Amino acid sequence: MLIDKKLEHHAKELQDLLNKYSHHYYVLDEPLVPDSEYDRLFDELQAIELKHPKLKTPDSPTLRVGAAPLKSFSQIKHEERMLSLDNAFDEEAIETFDRRIRERLETNDLIEYACEPKFDGLAVSLRYENGLLVYAATRGDGVTGEDITQNVKTIYAVPLKLQGNDYPNILEVRGEIYMPKAGFNELNQQAIERGEKVFANPRNAAAGSLRQLDSKITASRPLSMYCYGVGVVSNGPIAKTHFDTLLQLKTWGFSVVDKIDRSQGTEGCLKYYKRLLLQRDDLPYEIDGVVYKVNDFSLQKRLGFVSRAPRWAIAHKFPAQEVMTKLNDVEFQVGRTGALTPVARLTPVNVGGVNVSNATLHNMDEIRRKDICIGDFVIVRRAGDVIPEVVSVVREKRPKEITAITLPKHCPICHSEILQAEGEAVARCSGGLFCPAQRKEAIKHFASRKAMDVDGLGDKIVEQLVDMDLIKHVDDLYRLTEADIAELDRMGEKSAQNLIEALEKSKKTTLPKFIFALGIRDVGETTARNLALHFATLEAIKKASIEDLLEVSDIGPIVAEHVKTFFNQQHNLDVIAGLLQASINWPAIKKLPAKSQPLRNKTFVITGTLTSMSRDEAKEKLQSLGGTVSGSVSKKTDYVIVGETPGSKYDKAKRLGVETLSEDKFLKLLAGVPGFEPR
Ligand code: IVH
Repeated sequence: MLIDKKLEHHAKELQDLLNKYSHHYYVLDEPLVPDSEYDRLFDELQAIELKHPKLKTPDSPTLRVGAAPLKSFSQIKHEERMLSLDNAFDEEAIETFDRRIRERLETNDLIEYACEPKFDGLAVSLRYENGLLVYAATRGDGVTGEDITQNVKTIYAVPLKLQGNDYPNILEVRGEIYMPKAGFNELNQQAIERGEKVFANPRNAAAGSLRQLDSKITASRPLSMYCYGVGVVSNGPIAKTHFDTLLQLKTWGFSVVDKIDRSQGTEGCLKYYKRLLLQRDDLPYEIDGVVYKVNDFSLQKRLGFVSRAPRWAIAHKFPAQEVMTKLNDVEFQVGRTGALTPVARLTPVNVGGVNVSNATLHNMDEIRRKDICIGDFVIVRRAGDVIPEVVSVVREKRPKEITAITLPKHCPICHSEILQAEGEAVARCSGGLFCPAQRKEAIKHFASRKAMDVDGLGDKIVEQLVDMDLIKHVDDLYRLTEADIAELDRMGEKSAQNLIEALEKSKKTTLPKFIFALGIRDVGETTARNLALHFATLEAIKKASIEDLLEVSDIGPIVAEHVKTFFNQQHNLDVIAGLLQASINWPAIKKLPAKSQPLRNKTFVITGTLTSMSRDEAKEKLQSLGGTVSGSVSKKTDYVIVGETPGSKYDKAKRLGVETLSEDKFLKLLAGVPGFEPR
């Protein structure tokens, strides 16, 4: 079939436009058009290419969704060897590294180093010929790697075609393919829900995703790439220094991390190390250290390399986040809703700079899947604020004496029966509020800052109050006397008085906080607020039928059922009556007429630090205009407001194609909304 010139031109136009949009979106973090527009153009291009396969060029963005599965990967010999790095674990090793360099170069001058994060993913080499990606290969043994071109083409951060026209005819770019933490957590969460195997860490997840013969699977995984160097370059070096080379790579469309820096001598390198170590947990991707590279290419050349690593670079590793230790025992903890969590008691180890002696084993399914027994040597992992977890067993070190881990038949605290609903991974204590463990957790939740905000009622005090039988339920808190409290450990008269005052103060609350404080299963802050705003009074919520509840935004059948069940139980109604008797009160909620709620039906998520107001203030503003503020990003989120140093929610927004608003744009949005009062 003859393809008319006009159509060919149009297809090319669509390809260029789509490539430009994804570069702005994934590399520059500056979306140009709404996702719907991208999808529309994509569908149009895909339809044209389907009809005229000749128009599907190797740089077509339609390749991002994956191609026909391969039978096996072919081998690719690297024209220039892919080197590795020597590791250093302390400052002394860095000083030695620097001294040897100066000795070899016979100089006492300070050496300039480029400093970079050491990404925890997989090294790849991308080869571009005349601006087009011709292949992508793994490092393999450094000499020969595997051809993973089809898979790499699905990664949006990898340009299929270079930008500008000043690039070399042949250009090999090296970098790391990684899986952002947010994407990794979500992937594993989905795997747990489906009862499938979880990945031990983001690096394994990235490796597993790239090793797929079916690139459609790779396309469904949240992978990204940062470039950190070059291989073969026709017509000589791109710049005189490593740092400038990276800046140049950016102009051709590559993703280069913004954390790169330069330092004269090792002092700045060590400062860089400390700075990144502090930031490590908050970065949206995993790093296992930093890398220092002699910046000047002519010096790099003089230094050369030994066996597999250059003399001009070194990896300064962070303390490991995965460490082996012995699993001595397993205990089951009971949560607020009765959920039983197996917790591993470990021989204490330092993991990523923190002492760890307990780690979660999640649930029995996970224990079975990982085949973990008491007495085993296990790998413990912690990353950021996440609770440390046991990721795997070291089978080679399994001792003769091991004991299987079994789910207790009765609650370790109240001895009620343990029940496990069909198809659910979680087992629960059936004791409800009879169980002191559940009671303690319910009271801690009730007193917490976002609930009744009882200042000074810490976990230890709640535990003592329950253990000493001074309180059973949350309403008992308001019957406590100073004399009762003064009986507790480390509680003087003054602290007792303060606590009574704090309890008194907490009586003045709001309906959303009160509903949240009740601890109804799956009713978080947002749902509590939606309930309060929808029904306006506690009485109305109590009486609401399942159908009424389903009308509340964000409430589905499961949560509706939990709410209904909660208010159907006499003991809950008794506790509520007790609380009201203690004169807990809140201002009446005026049901706002729809027109004064210009942001109704709009869901917002806030990430990072805002400079013009606190997050709570922003939240209140949005809510006062009828908007819903949620804690996590989903397809239903309308806007993600992005402050400084945003967290993983930002990545998720980008991945799901949720519109993001800078603080500036957010303020403009507020300013343009009727009913908004500028500060
Ligand atoms: S440079 C000639 N820079 O670490 C030097 N590598 O342990 C070659 N890596 O195979 C590597 N971040 O997969 C370099 N900023 C960075 C890196 C980095 C992570 C990985 C890479 C390499 C391994 C060596």
